[in-house]
Amino acid sequence: MNTDDIEIEILPDEGWDKVAHLNPLVYPPENPITAVWASVKWADADQRFVACKNGEAVSHVALFLRDGLRSGRPARIAGIGGVMTHPAHQRLGHARRLLQLAHEAAQRKHMDFALLVCEAKNIAFYEQQGWEVFNGHMIHQQDNRSLNWTLSPVMVRDVTARAPRGGMLDLRGMPW
Ligand SMILES: CC(C)(COP(=O)(O)OP(=O)(O)OC[C@H]1O[C@@H](n2cnc3c(N)ncnc32)[C@H](O)[C@@H]1OP(=O)(O)O)[C@@H](O)C(=O)NCCC(=O)NCCS
Repeated sequence: MNTDDIEIEILPDEGWDKVAHLNPLVYPPENPITAVWASVKWADADQRFVACKNGEAVSHVALFLRDGLRSGRPARIAGIGGVMTHPAHQRLGHARRLLQLAHEAAQRKHMDFALLVCEAKNIAFYEQQGWEVFNGHMIHQQDNRSLNWTLSPVMVRDVTARAPRGGMLDLRGMPW
């Protein structure tokens, strides 16, 4: 795909090598969330959506496909993670476009709803893209232990079904 000299690449998990340089740019050591995120063991992505300019990655969104539980019942959860845009290329619509591509991929995979974790300061950004704050409890795994997620807000978005706004969700695995 090519629009406005931006190429979109859809890569497997190993595509992280192409975008890893963005991570310290958007999460410098002085940002308190950097240490928090670094303390988490994250899941591997199923797909990576990467916007490139002149062959260099400038924006990234990862998609995770997970068989989780919603109030104890099976739920196909589309995880969104690793959302980041190079500081020199922000506010140009890259993240919005990649989030939309990941959303469309989740629809094609018949996922029920989407879920992400984010800093409170990004809630308004995600609300603009159709996400809502999840007010229930989210269980995830770290070192084979089930833990309640308390590190940040959780947001959800409808995909093929209505996303829960509260209640109990179990990711049955590491977070994203
Ligand atoms: C958050 C982030 C990914 C946004 O990327 P981006 O490519 O600049 O976003 P877009 O240009 O697609 O923005 C889409 C819309 O959201 C708005 N927006 C962007 N960042 C915003 C923010 N921090 N707060 C509120 N609105 C924001 C844009 O103005 C745009 O709105 P518009 O269409 O009305 O102009 C980027 O600022 C970033 O990498 N931040 C640091 C890492 C981070 O916090 N990632 C999120 C992890 S949960």
